[in-house]
Amino acid sequence: MEKGRLYGIGVGPGDPELLTLKALRLLRSCPVIAYQSAEDKASVARGIVAEYLPGNQIEVLYHLPRALDPLAAQPIYDEVVTPIADHLADGRDVAVLCEGDPLFYGSFMYVFTRLSEQYETEIVPGVSCPMGCASALKVPLSYRNDVFSVLPATLPAESLETQLLNADAAAIIKLGRHFEKVRNVLHQIGIASRARYIERGTMAEQRIIPLDEVKPDRVPYFSMILVPSKSQL
Ligand SMILES: C[S@@+](CC[C@H](N)C(=O)[O-])C[C@H]1O[C@@H](n2cnc3c(N)ncnc32)[C@H](O)[C@@H]1O
Repeated sequence: MEKGRLYGIGVGPGDPELLTLKALRLLRSCPVIAYQSAEDKASVARGIVAEYLPGNQIEVLYHLPRALDPLAAQPIYDEVVTPIADHLADGRDVAVLCEGDPLFYGSFMYVFTRLSEQYETEIVPGVSCPMGCASALKVPLSYRNDVFSVLPATLPAESLETQLLNADAAAIIKLGRHFEKVRNVLHQIGIASRARYIERGTMAEQRIIPLDEVKPDRVPYFSMILVPSKSQL
């Protein structure tokens, strides 16, 4: 029997219209769609494309426990992707939906590293969160020879400080409970006035809040700070 094909589909940062034509075609035509979500929450990626789904597909929901030590996580992740592998082995194509771009901090990568050698794989890039949020904020990110850095807020304050001092512009992702630490670093190195905060960028619930008015205990997972370039030309 011919094996199914694995598709990693970037569904963009939230606005359902920020989907590529290729993603739309594939997510409608695959007999199986798969998507990740936190244990107690609906899948954001599925929510983004819900209005386009034909309604007759097999759906596979998988959870990736995050707080685990990477080594301990391996056997769990292996198990998590098994239902996807089973569909592929049975000859069914599977479209794995991924918020933003699948290969940029994407949950699809855990599937990709486990299955792409065994199954023919195609990846459809998506509009990534720094691009979606820069457009929503209407801030030019980087000019000419600027260095643009993407920094996870989970880094220690000293690393964030060093990295930010070496960058002309930056996107700070995975804010959540790390927000206060990041805001302190931005003030410390004197670039807080340039930094812009956005939550759920391009989604229907998007909010843009001045950095100093953000309540640290209300910062959602889908939020980021963009530090646009200093340059104007
Ligand atoms: C695991 S990364 C996923 C990145 C995604 N694959 C992409 O290409 O944009 C998740 C982090 O991206 C940021 N993020 C993703 N989508 C966002 C959005 N619509 N608005 C604000 N931040 C977003 C948040 O900082 C979140 O914690």
